[in-house]
Amino acid sequence: MLSAPRPTSIPELFASDPDRATAMTFRLADLVIDMSKNLIDARGIDALLDIADLADVRGGIESLLDGAVMNATEGRAAAHAALRRPANVPSLVDGVEVSSAVHDVLKRMRSFTTAVHSGTRTGSSGRRFETVVNIGIGGSDLGPAMAHAALRPYHTPGIECRFVSNVDPADLESALRGLDPATTLFVVSSKTFTTIETLANAHAARRWVADALGDAAVGAHFVAVSTNSAEVHRFGIEESEMFPFWDWVGGRYSLASAIGLSLMLGIGPAHFDELLSGMHRVDEEVRSCPLRTNAAAMMGLIGVWNRNVLGMSSKAVLPYSHDLRRFPAYLQQLEMESNGKSVNSNGSTVELDTSPIVWGEPGTNAQHAFMQLLHQGTTVVPVDFIGFANPRSSFDDRRHATLFLNMLAQSRALAFGRSIHDVAADPNASHRVFSGSRPSTTIVAARLTPSVLGQLVALYEYVVFVQGVVWGINSFDQFGVELGKEMALGLADSGAGHRDTDPSTHSLMSWFRSTVDPT
Ligand code: F6P
Repeated sequence: MLSAPRPTSIPELFASDPDRATAMTFRLADLVIDMSKNLIDARGIDALLDIADLADVRGGIESLLDGAVMNATEGRAAAHAALRRPANVPSLVDGVEVSSAVHDVLKRMRSFTTAVHSGTRTGSSGRRFETVVNIGIGGSDLGPAMAHAALRPYHTPGIECRFVSNVDPADLESALRGLDPATTLFVVSSKTFTTIETLANAHAARRWVADALGDAAVGAHFVAVSTNSAEVHRFGIEESEMFPFWDWVGGRYSLASAIGLSLMLGIGPAHFDELLSGMHRVDEEVRSCPLRTNAAAMMGLIGVWNRNVLGMSSKAVLPYSHDLRRFPAYLQQLEMESNGKSVNSNGSTVELDTSPIVWGEPGTNAQHAFMQLLHQGTTVVPVDFIGFANPRSSFDDRRHATLFLNMLAQSRALAFGRSIHDVAADPNASHRVFSGSRPSTTIVAARLTPSVLGQLVALYEYVVFVQGVVWGINSFDQFGVELGKEMALGLADSGAGHRDTDPSTHSLMSWFRSTVDPT
């Protein structure tokens, strides 16, 4: 834990500083970010800025944006910002100019999308594509799936996008329900093109097409997005049908790369471009703004405060937007795969606790599920609320206002609570007390446009980055996901009689083999 001056309560902070709300509300592109309902005062902020200087957060941001090798364990840059720079702005990645390669791929994505939408690019029988099925997992699924749901009002008419990630056959089966192979296009998205789940689902999808339309039809119904042309070729997709990206794009940072192809097919090139420009606006502001007034840096640092000074091990993200319902899942990978580490960049044990557990659900549903614990439980969980002033439904009848006001009510109740004096006459008075002083940050924007979504994604990328720099960890590798993958392969190879494992796993394997229905 970090020792730093800890204020007594959020209500007292407001009582002692009438300008607190204004002073602690930041702007980032079109986002307004109110951090005033956190349990931190000016001394705490100064302490955080000292920590950030010591860790060289400013230098880290510059290096990240300049395409330096940030991922030392894998010897790569983490240059996702290069994916969203305009074509006329040069981009160096590890000293190599990448702008033209990035924009060539974007151009190919746009013409492919236009051809699919116009019906120039069709399935094997000449019929227009009506459905795009993205097959991918982790960063090759969560970004496009989240953004596609978030941008519902921008969906291109006549084309539906579905997303398949789980190796559980139920996922592909339900995605294919009601679809006609003749009008279905599969986008197989995998950075490595060796991910077992994605390849297993892609092979199953290929059988589905071949069974209905014949082997010769398959090629017209599959494209790939990957960095690995050899494996794409081995799967049977021609290089001309592959949209490349590069090893300097981390999976969970890849939404703006060709991994966004399914999203572009779903919302059209112009809206995809708006998403990229929203991200780029944030890149520019984060680079130019001093840390003290830098919304993304301050949000990251307040996260450090909650984690390392207040000792909070979890964080809830509650979008008051049904369309943003996949955002918490997207952030789970972004934050926990990036910063869920126990060793620092030198390989030594970290000195401070790293990523909190990130979770969440959209409001107001959350209020009728787990908010009880957030208000009155023994564990304090800081919350990020996200809301929009304007509805996106054509048949709104004040329900959107109800939604937004509920969000404000929740953050207010968490911060200010209710004292025993207010409920003294109630026979259940002690049950009706809310301690308050529970931290939250509220992010609002006029409406959830493609640009605003890009801004939100980029904001959280910097929150994660700043925290990774303070914790001294490499936010861009993910060795923690490997052991389970290796063990799954080992178990798959081992057969029923295999004893070279622990007794518990052996016994569960034996149970599985004896219980699974014979095929
Ligand atoms: O879960 C580990 C991981 O490597 C993620 O980092 C990545 O986003 C996901 O698997 C999918 O990988 P790929 O795009 O190579 O299929």
